[in-house]
Amino acid sequence: MIAAWRLLALLLAIATPMQLAVTVLGADLRRTVGGRLVQLGGAALLWCVVAAALFTVTTLGAAGAAMRTVTDVPLALMAMAGLGLLAYVQRARWRWWRQRTAPDIAASGGVSAPGSLSFARGIAALGDRHYYLRGFAEHGPVFRMSQFGAPTMCVLGLERRQAIMRQHGEALGPAPLPFSRSVLRGFLRYMDDATHDHYGPLMRRAMHGGTSASLHERLQHDIRERLLRASNGSAPPATATAFIEPLVREALDLLLFGFGADGDAGDSRQAATAFARQGTAFYHVQSSRRLNATEESMLRQLDDLLAQQEQRLHADGVADTVPLGRIRTLSGSAPDDTVRQNFVFLHRIATNNVSGLMAWLLVFWSRHPDIVARIRASSGDERQRLLERFLAETLRLSQSEYTYRTVARTFVHDGMVYPAGWLVRFCVWESHRDATVFDAPTEFRLRLGDQDYAKSRFAPFGTGRHACNGADLNETLCVALLSVLVDDFDVHAEPVEPLQRAPRHWGHWQPNARLSLRITRRAHP
Ligand code: HEM
Repeated sequence: MIAAWRLLALLLAIATPMQLAVTVLGADLRRTVGGRLVQLGGAALLWCVVAAALFTVTTLGAAGAAMRTVTDVPLALMAMAGLGLLAYVQRARWRWWRQRTAPDIAASGGVSAPGSLSFARGIAALGDRHYYLRGFAEHGPVFRMSQFGAPTMCVLGLERRQAIMRQHGEALGPAPLPFSRSVLRGFLRYMDDATHDHYGPLMRRAMHGGTSASLHERLQHDIRERLLRASNGSAPPATATAFIEPLVREALDLLLFGFGADGDAGDSRQAATAFARQGTAFYHVQSSRRLNATEESMLRQLDDLLAQQEQRLHADGVADTVPLGRIRTLSGSAPDDTVRQNFVFLHRIATNNVSGLMAWLLVFWSRHPDIVARIRASSGDERQRLLERFLAETLRLSQSEYTYRTVARTFVHDGMVYPAGWLVRFCVWESHRDATVFDAPTEFRLRLGDQDYAKSRFAPFGTGRHACNGADLNETLCVALLSVLVDDFDVHAEPVEPLQRAPRHWGHWQPNARLSLRITRRAHP
């Protein structure tokens, strides 16, 4: 290979890996995402070093002709791989370049959204909590970006989201995570409209049956027991994850399926333990891929355990107390595999969402003693209202960040074209920080005005047919935790920064993974 070709091969081999390595190994991403993404960055850097070494040895070194031929081969292969990677990271741009002349776009009369489809910038966004806010400040309320090569429209404003959903709902489809393909007829949130027409309202009605006083009592009792154990002076401070996840899982076992409702009664205790054991193992399946064979067998076992529990609830005459038991009353027949598998995944996803939210609740509780003192001074209905507002303010500032849709058919909104096949990210966290709507929107405050959390300005649970059907249950659970805390325990939660998140745009920002909780019993006068 002559020197110029060799130089070209080197540039092709390293251009894209180098750009990715520089992005991924930057301080923000290392601090916030870390893990596998950073390992990939390290691998990309190593790749560049190897390519540069091959180039140097062959071109500048004293290698003989035979040796040069040997080292040219891997360099050429690396150049081809680099070219492949370049094509991969340019997917979003090429897709748009081809699409812009397609008849549906050309005829739409809309202009393309501002912003960049750079792959590397999309990756950098993972490490920057204010990426979308900055994008809106620079480009206005709609801009485009690339999320791992998927072109994405980012949209600011709850009213805009409402208008788009209302006017173009038919042209928008779900943006399913891969695990949904392992659920018979799909996970509720990602079901096609025809299937959802049947299962959506059924599940929603089952979830909206309320929580009985005795379940409430049981829930508070279980939470108190956990807090007492954690506040035992000889116990080391619990990591937030080790404390919160089992609490949430057990609470959902109770509130969704009635496991543990009658305490330690023999038969039902065994059922609760069997479900909890399998459910805990299942919690670690990843939502970013289909289930493997072992996980599918775990899903079948959980499905069987739920079928048995459903029969037990009816035999004991307590079917009406929990969503799993209500289905038969509502539909006239026992829940089918689709319902039960949805319950299994709903439990899995809700454990994750509510655990994240509880970590934030404890952080804000620990950081705002003045607000906690105000709540402590209240009683009865007023206290309940203050606790609900504390929860709402926590949700406004954390854990509710986005909803996603896929554009099924090209449409134009406000003169801007939304091309078929693109993702739409409705930016909820950013919309909840609108200074024209909230005073001091970045501050955590106990906001007590009637309109402070009106639907038009606050929508952490989405809207429309796929709006969250666990919002009430979420409130029951979170307020139960706060109401046990309020009288009897103090919490100190540290370290919170640097905030962290999973390496995907759909992940929530969380307090630092090392967050630990020091829980102490309050001395009563
Ligand atoms: C931190 C707490 C939670 C948050 C912030 C949250 C948020 C959301 C959002 C934004 C959606 C709408 C998604 C969309 O439009 O694409 C949704 C849907 C859903 N959520 Fe939640 N959720 C939470 C807790 C729960 C809990 C505790 C449950 C159940 C136990 C639950 C069950 C569901 C279900 C089943 C759907 C889909 C409903 C359907 O498509 O018919 N969520 N959630």
